[in-house]
Amino acid sequence: VFAHVAQGPEDPILGVTVAYNKDPSPVKVNLGVGAYRTEEGKPLVLNVVRKAEQMLVNDPSRVKEYLPITGLADFNKLSAKLIFGADSPAIQENRVATVQCLSGTGSLRVGGEFLARHYHERTIYIPLPTWGNHPKVFTLAGLSVKTYRYYDPATRGLNFQGLIEDLGAAPSGAIVLLHACAHNPTGVDPTPEQWEQIRQLIRSKGLLPFFDSAYQGFASGSLDADAQSVRIFVADGGELLTAQSYAKNMGLYGERVGALSIVCRSADVAVRVESQLKLVIRPMYSNPPIHGASIVATILKDRETYNEWTIELKAMADRIISMRHQLFDALKARGTPGDWSHIIKQIGMFTFTGLNSQQVAFMTKDFHIYMTSDGRISMAGLSSKTVPHLADAIHAAVTT
Ligand code: LMR
Repeated sequence: VFAHVAQGPEDPILGVTVAYNKDPSPVKVNLGVGAYRTEEGKPLVLNVVRKAEQMLVNDPSRVKEYLPITGLADFNKLSAKLIFGADSPAIQENRVATVQCLSGTGSLRVGGEFLARHYHERTIYIPLPTWGNHPKVFTLAGLSVKTYRYYDPATRGLNFQGLIEDLGAAPSGAIVLLHACAHNPTGVDPTPEQWEQIRQLIRSKGLLPFFDSAYQGFASGSLDADAQSVRIFVADGGELLTAQSYAKNMGLYGERVGALSIVCRSADVAVRVESQLKLVIRPMYSNPPIHGASIVATILKDRETYNEWTIELKAMADRIISMRHQLFDALKARGTPGDWSHIIKQIGMFTFTGLNSQQVAFMTKDFHIYMTSDGRISMAGLSSKTVPHLADAIHAAVTT
């Protein structure tokens, strides 16, 4: 009965790792998926995560019971505080409904399904380009996906004019997906002044902002600075949604730990919204896993572990920034044609190189460099040892 089933394509991002794993070359480098690596090219488990896990193991009161449908209560409160700020009026007024979800993707999906069921406008505007999974997640959630201009290939920066025009032309009430910081794949964010203009436009048109926050702490190294875009929208008292992921900033990729928060107009509405989120979650996966959320809650609730985390997070962010400078310098040293200053101007985990899909294919074939076909490089996967090899590959790709 399944004989007619056609072979599905590999995922454009995770499929890069599949291809990388099959390559026997000793010089191969995986710059596809956005996953942090050390200078030695190894995945990193933060010391503070190991410490929290030890504390959990040593605590005999810890059991493996089901969590509530909404997840670990402490985790939800601490996650909302992390993104909105401890002094956020929305939190103080109990206007936020937060549920623990399966990392950023699960949070987007649950938020999308909630909106498809309960919000009057089904169209969501996503930036062009955006993370490849966004359109799939929202379409399957029951929303209709449209794009707004975001990136300008000519300047390798923000197409602010295009963004304002497209959101200005969106129907009133439409949902707008915004990357809270460190836009994926471009590494290009609006300035604080531009964010303020975007906020005014969104509020004046009654659009509904849905923030994807997958890199808090990775853009600037500061958790507060990277949440500023979200916080200006909370400060004006209006509604919004946020999807948070702890994959990158705590290195908890495989633990699948994240949170969806919906900021409402009143505590009363938030209670009802939460009750409906439970009805979305229960038939999908019943309730979320306990381990990752317990690690996050343990780290966030204690001053000392929280501070240790911020130091390790900053070290990851700084290593990525240093990779940007090393790659830029290496291309300059080779006299590689073109202006590569965007490598040091863009922020977060990725550089959107401007290389086209043929150049990427060439680099994979001749240099065993694995990256997504849109020319995105995960800077977090680079090290001082691999920068020269990448610079040679880029140089060859643009000169042959
Ligand atoms: C990425 O863009 O590489 C990450 O967000 C990982 C993923 O799931 O695609």
